[in-house]
Amino acid sequence: MIVAIDGPAGAGKSTVARRLAERLGFRYLDTGAMYRAVTWLALERALALDEAGLLAELAEAHPVELDESGGVSIAGTDVTAAIREPRIDKVVPLVARHQEVRRVMRGRQRALVEQGNAVVEGRDIGTVVAPEADVKVYLVADRAERARRRISERPGIGADALATDLRLRDESDAPQTLRADDADEIDTTHLDVDDVVARIEELVRARAHA
Ligand code: DC
Repeated sequence: MIVAIDGPAGAGKSTVARRLAERLGFRYLDTGAMYRAVTWLALERALALDEAGLLAELAEAHPVELDESGGVSIAGTDVTAAIREPRIDKVVPLVARHQEVRRVMRGRQRALVEQGNAVVEGRDIGTVVAPEADVKVYLVADRAERARRRISERPGIGADALATDLRLRDESDAPQTLRADDADEIDTTHLDVDDVVARIEELVRARAHA
């Protein structure tokens, strides 16, 4: 069974997807971490972020490794913490918007999906990566609430800077952030993580019985 969880930044995807995967005993696949790791490597190698072809070659040559405990590595380096830095937040949409890069990443993501039983988090999972997913959820939340959640994840940054950042990210991510027609939309603004997880578990149970 594949559970696809899509939605904008700060809608609660990661926390929900990780906890849901634990509860179901499924693998958790964070596709955003894959784009982040390639972005980290591009900065490390001082590649221009508008060079789609070079970035795709970089992604092709250096598969991102995701381990069971949430660790992320690329080109032999553990980048688990580094990919969450604000300097990556800012530029990752510039890398993720290149279709050449997306083709490489989607190929890898498909291969992981085909291993079965996974909660897969991203932007285009229910539409492009795994349109056959058994359960599709699209998470949304008010921008003010999403900015508030980011503040607790990125304590060094001011509230205004974060709100501006989030607005710019929404704009740059919009073409990649796709709601499948058959996805269930859940507004997480006033829900806590366990409520959201419980709702998705219900969808999973209903699907398993169908
Ligand atoms: O969810 P996140 O913030 O970790 O995602 C990082 C970036 O990657 C963000 O710019 C959206 C992009 N992304 C994407 O384009 N497609 C995905 N399947 C996952 C993430």
